[in-house]
Amino acid sequence: MKKIFVCMLSLMMLFLTACGNTEGAAEKKTTTVEKNVKSDSEKQNMEAKNKILVVYFSRTGENYEVGNIKKGNTHIMADMIAEAVGADTFEIKTVKPYPADYRECTEVAKKELAENARPAIEGKVSNWQNYDTVFLGYPIWWSELPMPVYTFIESYDWQGKTVIPFCTSAGDVLTGKEDNITKYAKGAKLRKGLGIRGKRTQDNPESVKADVLKWLKELGFNAR
Ligand SMILES: Cc1cc2nc3c(=O)[nH]c(=O)nc-3n(C[C@H](O)[C@H](O)[C@H](O)COP(=O)(O)O)c2cc1C
Repeated sequence: MKKIFVCMLSLMMLFLTACGNTEGAAEKKTTTVEKNVKSDSEKQNMEAKNKILVVYFSRTGENYEVGNIKKGNTHIMADMIAEAVGADTFEIKTVKPYPADYRECTEVAKKELAENARPAIEGKVSNWQNYDTVFLGYPIWWSELPMPVYTFIESYDWQGKTVIPFCTSAGDVLTGKEDNITKYAKGAKLRKGLGIRGKRTQDNPESVKADVLKWLKELGFNAR
C-alpha cells in the first residue's frame, strides 16, 4: 500500500514538474516573441525618424497675375519639393475658407494681419515627432506670412527641428519675413529658403523645378 502511495506521489510530482516546464517554455516563448515584436517596432520607429515633411498653405480661386487657378502657386512648389526629396506633405487648411475673389481675400487678410489673428485650422500632422526637417511654404500676404501659417507654427513643438521656408509672391523673393518663423517655432533651426514668383509656377513650372532642385542641392539634399 505504502509502495503504491509513493509511486502515485512520484507520478504526480513528475506530472507537476512537466507542467511547470511547459509553462516555463511557454513563458520563454512569449518573452522571445515580445522581444521580437519590440525590436521590430523599434526598428520601424528608427526608420520612421529623420523623415522630411513639406507643410504648405496655398489658395485656389482668383489670384494675383494668374487669373482663376485650380491649384495654388505654393501648392505647386510644395509638390515639387516633396517629390524631389521624397517627403510627406501636409496642407494647412482654414476652418473658414478664404474668399475665391482676389479683392475680397485681400480685405480679409488685411484685417487678420491688423488683428494679428490666429484663424482656426483643420487637422493635425500625425507622427510630428518623426519629422526632423520641415519645409514650410506660404504665399506672401501683405508682405507677411498669412496668419493661419502662424496658427500652424504655434500648434507644434519645434524643439530640435530644422525648418526650411519657401514662398511664392509677386517676385522671386523671400521678403525676409521668414526670420519671424523661429520666433514662434521655438527651438527650431532655420535654413536658407527660396522665394519664387507665383506666376512662374503656373506658366513655367519647369523653370521653377530647376530653381528648386538647385536650391535643394545647395542645402545638401540628394534631390531628383
Ligand atoms: C491676400 C493676398 C495678399 C497678397 N499680398 C502680396 C504682397 O504683399 N506681396 C506680394 O508680392 N504678393 C502678394 N500677394 C500675391 C501672392 O503672394 C501670390 O499670388 C502667391 O503666389 C499666391 O500663392 P498661392 O496661390 O499659393 O496662394 C497677395 C495675394 C493675396 C491673395
